[in-house]
Amino acid sequence: MTKYRIAVLPGDGVGKEVVEAAMIVLEEIALDAEYLYGDIGWEFWCKEGNPLPDRTIELLKQTDVALFGAITSKPKKEAREELAPELRDRGLEYFSPIVRLRQEFELYANVRPAKAYPVNPLNYRDGINITVFRENTEGLYSGVEFRPVSDNIKKALSVHPKFKRFMDVPSDELALSCRIFTRKGCERIVKAAFDYAEKYDARSVTVVEKPNVIRETSGMFVEIAREIAKNYPGIELWETNIDAQAMWLVKNPEDYDVLVTSNMFGDIISDLASQLTGGLGFAVAGNIGDDYAVFEPVHGSAPKYAGQYKVNPIAMIRAVKMMLDYLGEHEKAERLESAIEQVVQEGKVRTYDMGGSSSTLDVAKEIAKKYRGE
Ligand code: NAI
Ligand code: MG
Repeated sequence: MTKYRIAVLPGDGVGKEVVEAAMIVLEEIALDAEYLYGDIGWEFWCKEGNPLPDRTIELLKQTDVALFGAITSKPKKEAREELAPELRDRGLEYFSPIVRLRQEFELYANVRPAKAYPVNPLNYRDGINITVFRENTEGLYSGVEFRPVSDNIKKALSVHPKFKRFMDVPSDELALSCRIFTRKGCERIVKAAFDYAEKYDARSVTVVEKPNVIRETSGMFVEIAREIAKNYPGIELWETNIDAQAMWLVKNPEDYDVLVTSNMFGDIISDLASQLTGGLGFAVAGNIGDDYAVFEPVHGSAPKYAGQYKVNPIAMIRAVKMMLDYLGEHEKAERLESAIEQVVQEGKVRTYDMGGSSSTLDVAKEIAKKYRGE
């Protein structure tokens, strides 16, 4: 028996290529682990009518953690057209396998470290090191939405005086998306952010919401953040509004350490932070719950580059680094981080996005070499 069982989900397009690159690095790291490959993505939607087959869910349940490449997804009409002919009349609906994974395994924390590696030509500025904690299961992405808005829903909403001006809008001219927060959901993401800040000696945690306008949901989030902050006397709690935070991230990004926010705000602000520190070739995400975690690059399957081994594998290799930390293999994680830093800094082996012409696998091999100490 190996110490760890790790699920590997390459997915589609460049997902397969960056996972191949990650495996070169993992081979060098020589973790005491067994790697179990799982099916996920467009191919399985087309052939089986399910982009995340049940056997893959079962496989994940038998592992400690998963590494995920990227998948292709397409709009409703195309999804239906590309289904195998024998599956077309079954009323199958495409559903994002990533969203399903997050729900099925309660991966409530989306953790997005945005770090400016020294001498990276893609840095907006040096000295940025921000980690965004985004709530991953509720908020505006809960999926509780209505269009048209039926009369009984309108009637229920009419208990609120501010709904009066919408009462006469015809049902089919109204759309409603609910922003649902739970105490448990807010508590666990804020706590995860503070635990992380404590572990990595961060000076501050910034709660990014909009309680002056969205009084109930953002209000509850900020109140809970204040309660939880009391348990971490060494860490300052800063409170900002999402709109102002977007400006400050461009103006003084070096000032921020850990940001914590709800689902949609986190989705937006983490992309902003990524672009300050290298963009999609560097952007990495952990989807972390109490019992399981999935680590992935933020980018998709990049069909334009599929099959060319051209894209930057660093985002995927950073996912390996996050996974090592999650498994408690901090020494290996730090050594890998330092190997990535050296390769970026030397600048000899770079993919196209960094102005170079090296291949995906060459970058991985160079990182493996630095890991070895060469
Ligand atoms: P994308 O992230 O796949 O690619 C957009 C562009 O970003 C690429 O054309 C390339 O110029 C650049 N890029 C992406 N990854 C890069 C890397 N590692 N190194 C250097 N440059 C890189 O996004 P796009 O084109 O909007 O979506 C393509 C497919 O991927 C769609 O089917 C979409 O649904 C899916 N997607 C999947 C995600 C996932 O699996 N988590 C996330 C985002 C999109
Ligand atoms: Mg996004």
